[in-house]
Amino acid sequence: MVLSRRKMLALVGGGTVLAAGAGAAGFVATRTPNDALAPWDLAGGYGDPRKNALSYALLAPNPHNRQPWVAELVGEDRLILTRDLALDLPVTDPFGRQLTIGMGCFIELMEMAAQEAGFGVETTLFPEGDADGAPVAACRFIEGAGAPDPLFAHAMNRRSHKEAFEPRAVSAAAAAPLTPYAEIVVDGPRNDRLRMLAHDAWLIEAATPAAWQESIDLLRIGKAEINAQPDGIDAGGPMLEALALLGLFTREAASDPDNPGTRSAIEETQNAILGAPAFTLSRTRGNSRSDQITAGRDWLRLNLAATGAGLALRPVSQALQEYPEMAEIYAAIHAEFAAPGETVQMLGLLGYAPQTPRTPRWPLDAKLVNARQTA
Ligand SMILES: Cc1cc2nc3c(=O)[nH]c(=O)nc-3n(C[C@H](O)[C@H](O)[C@H](O)COP(=O)(O)O)c2cc1C
Repeated sequence: MVLSRRKMLALVGGGTVLAAGAGAAGFVATRTPNDALAPWDLAGGYGDPRKNALSYALLAPNPHNRQPWVAELVGEDRLILTRDLALDLPVTDPFGRQLTIGMGCFIELMEMAAQEAGFGVETTLFPEGDADGAPVAACRFIEGAGAPDPLFAHAMNRRSHKEAFEPRAVSAAAAAPLTPYAEIVVDGPRNDRLRMLAHDAWLIEAATPAAWQESIDLLRIGKAEINAQPDGIDAGGPMLEALALLGLFTREAASDPDNPGTRSAIEETQNAILGAPAFTLSRTRGNSRSDQITAGRDWLRLNLAATGAGLALRPVSQALQEYPEMAEIYAAIHAEFAAPGETVQMLGLLGYAPQTPRTPRWPLDAKLVNARQTA
């Protein structure tokens, strides 16, 4: 679950309080969490080609913006990627499936960035086996062996959409650039059914305290918290921050399902799902760790292709989550939308919408384990 700024406002019952505050304009001007957003401007600005590629890769989409990647530079031309298990999401992602998809997004974007600079990347997945904690990939950068990929042009404008959509249909022709990477369902009974499953799954998540709390625990409220921990679910901006300072926006309020603001937040995502014009479905034949990496690679490409086509893409993962309360919906979406043995890895809402702002990231150095030796 990601709560948008508007949802957060709903959560605390409205945004009129700020207007009463003197000096609001100055306050507004200073509330952007610049440190947390700095990695977007630093991408590609390093001396080492591997660091350059990693500095783009860390802008990849990933569940709950946990950013579980760790990179170790080895020698002159290699690196090893691992997933930090301390950043797991035990309730909503008990098998680390979604976090592994996020690693796939990371690897794909890293390779594309390297190629843009003329480097090929030889990637070996799970070089020591795929037990949890083992390296996810060992990569070797090869100078002169990379050809730029046209999708990389959209890397800096890519977002996971986090709001509702404009009431405008997506035609099959408009969605055509996305079809190499996922099934796109623009209308018809399958479109209706996916909307219903995504909607019902969202309500189940909201009614499952442990699942809901996993998101609330990752809330970063206001500039200071966001800059100090540039991950999780960022709830920033002048209005939210003012409300937080006044004690009107708290984690306690957000965790309480009976809070009228929480109910409004739930309704807002319900409405975004009900108003989504089209859906994307990503499936893999199996569900091995390598399959999950492939799903991530494809999701990143889908997200970039959507950006290039002027479309907004919002993941809605609730129906695909593997906790007991979701089992019925999980079984239904697989029975109706996957062949026997296939796994639905990603479900997305697709439509037209204004661009979502950039989301915070940890800087590259925070994710390099041997930065001092190789700087
Ligand atoms: C496997 C996976 C599952 C995700 N599931 C959701 C989701 O259910 N709801 C949502 O709003 N965002 C979801 N996201 C998007 C992340 O929240 C997003 O990537 C992160 O906040 C960083 O934002 P950005 O992609 O705009 O840079 C998912 C991303 C991945 C890779």
